[in-house]
Amino acid sequence: MITVALPKGELLKNTIRLLKIAGLDFSAFLDSGTRQLQIPDASGKAKGLLVRAQDVPVYVEYGQAQLGIVGYDVLREKKPNVAHLVDLQFGYCRLSVAVPESSSYRSPLDLPANGRVASKYVNCAREYFHSLDLPVEIVPLSGSVELGPITGMSEAIVDIVSTGRTLKENGLIEIETLYESTARLIAHPLSYRLNTGNLGDVVEKLRAEMLLTAS
Ligand code: PRP
Repeated sequence: MITVALPKGELLKNTIRLLKIAGLDFSAFLDSGTRQLQIPDASGKAKGLLVRAQDVPVYVEYGQAQLGIVGYDVLREKKPNVAHLVDLQFGYCRLSVAVPESSSYRSPLDLPANGRVASKYVNCAREYFHSLDLPVEIVPLSGSVELGPITGMSEAIVDIVSTGRTLKENGLIEIETLYESTARLIAHPLSYRLNTGNLGDVVEKLRAEMLLTAS
């Protein structure tokens, strides 16, 4: 029996769609009437855990789930010890530096030394500004990061942009993209090597599906 960690939120629907193609049916998680966080798949071959997206790699790293689906952004930020197996080609977004449109900043290097940058992605933001050799203070937030510059707490933000609507509606513009992100299939490294519960079969089916989508 394999256990799969599925991300709540944006990525859930496509995660369930793809796992179904690979033979694992967790559609019961889409039933709005359920509050169950652990369910067997329809065939009883596997178990699904419904967790916060940021926690998917935690369950996989500790081996409570052998497989997981999570955004590349989370992997870049947390650097968990998991095997990165397949780019699932959905959930596209990017991590960008954004500033108020009304400001004079048009490149990250325009930001003042020792200025402030608000972010949920503190590690990615710190690494990026370190690579520019620009000393800034990273202000950690856990949501509604756009309010950082709006309230005057920070000069800029480093945040996820998907449709760009949140930036636009809050008078912010992107001035740099740090990286692009899509959903990834990850595995517990030892379980992957030992092919626990024949998990390689699910991996191969997802790889084949991605090749089919690409062609
Ligand atoms: C994310 C991100 C942006 C928004 C971008 O926030 O932090 O705020 O989505 O999406 P868009 O480009 O399509 O507008 P999320 O919805 O996760 O909420 P949060 O700010 O409370 O974390």
